[in-house]
Amino acid sequence: MKRVNVGLMGMGTLGTGSYKILDMNRETIAKNSGCDIRFKRILERDTTRDRGIEVPMDLFTQDPEEIFNDPEIDIVIEVLGGIEPASTFMLEAMRHGKHVITANKAAIAADYDTFINTAKENNVEFRFEASVGGGIPILNAITTVLGANQFTEILGILNGTTNYILTKMTEYGLSYDTALQEAKEKGFAEPDPTADVEGHDVANKVSVLMALAFDTYIHPDNIPTIGITGITPEAIEEAKHENCVIKLIGKAKKNEDGSLEYSVAPMKLSKDHPLASVSNEFNAIYITGNAVDELMFYGKGAGGFPTGSALMGDVIEIAKKIRMEDK
Ligand code: HSE
Repeated sequence: MKRVNVGLMGMGTLGTGSYKILDMNRETIAKNSGCDIRFKRILERDTTRDRGIEVPMDLFTQDPEEIFNDPEIDIVIEVLGGIEPASTFMLEAMRHGKHVITANKAAIAADYDTFINTAKENNVEFRFEASVGGGIPILNAITTVLGANQFTEILGILNGTTNYILTKMTEYGLSYDTALQEAKEKGFAEPDPTADVEGHDVANKVSVLMALAFDTYIHPDNIPTIGITGITPEAIEEAKHENCVIKLIGKAKKNEDGSLEYSVAPMKLSKDHPLASVSNEFNAIYITGNAVDELMFYGKGAGGFPTGSALMGDVIEIAKKIRMEDK
C-alpha cells in the first residue's frame, strides 16, 4: 500500500484530535484513501503534556526545517493557529513541494491570494475545510457538488465559543464570564478568546466563505464586525419575550446587480428560524444557491475531533491524488 507521510505543525487540541482520529480509524482511513497514512514528524515544543495518547518521542521536533527538508513528507498539516509564524511555515512548505492543509482561518483570510497563488505555482494542493464550521463539510460542498449553482446568500452561526456562551446565558442564565470559561475549558475558544467574542473569528470565516462561494476575496478588516461582548442578560431576556433568540450571525449576500453585502453582528432571530435552534458549540450554515435553493449544514464547529475529522478528510483527498499520480 502506498505510504503517505504527514508532517504535523502543532500538537494542541486540533493536532491531538487529528492524531487520535488516525489511530482510532486507521483501517477506515486506509480503505478510503488507498494509502498507509502516517504522522512522520510533529513540530511542537510541549512534548510531555498528557494528551491521552502515546506519541513516540522521536516524532517531535522543534525545527520546522526538519519538516520542510524531509523528502518523505508529502503533506503538512498546520494547526499552530495565529497568523505568524503559521503563514510563513505554510508558504515555505508549499515551496518545498508539500501539500498543505490547515484549520487556520485567520491566516487564510489575512492573505488568501498569496496562499492560492503559491500553491498553484508549486503545483501542490492547499485545502482548508477545517477552517470554517469545524467538522461541517461546507467548503467541499461549495466547491464540488454545489458547483452548478450561483450562490446568493450565506447566513452562518460560525463560532462555537460565542454560540456556547449565548446558549448558556439564554438557557441556564449563566454569566458571560462563567460561560466563556467553560468554552475555554472545552477547547472551543481561540488561544486569545478576544477573536471569538469580538466577532473577528467569524469575520475570517465569512471572508473564506465569500472567496469560495462568490469568488471574491474581502479582507476581514473590511467586513463590518460586532461581537457579543455588549450582549447583556437584559437583552437576552427582552429577546425571549419577543419569542426570539440572539445569535452571532455572519452574513454575506450577492445582490442582483452583483454587489456584495457582508457583516458580522448579533441578530435577534425568531424562534421559528432554522438557525435559532442551533445551540452550544454547534455551528450551522444556511446557504442559498440559484439551482438548489436553500440548504442548511449543521454540526460541531469546534473541538479536536470534529475539526480533526475535517483535517483528516482533506488528508484522505490529497492521499488519493498522490496515489493516482503514482500509477
Ligand atoms: N474558536 C473557534 C470557535 C474554533 O469557537 O468556533 C473553531 O474555529
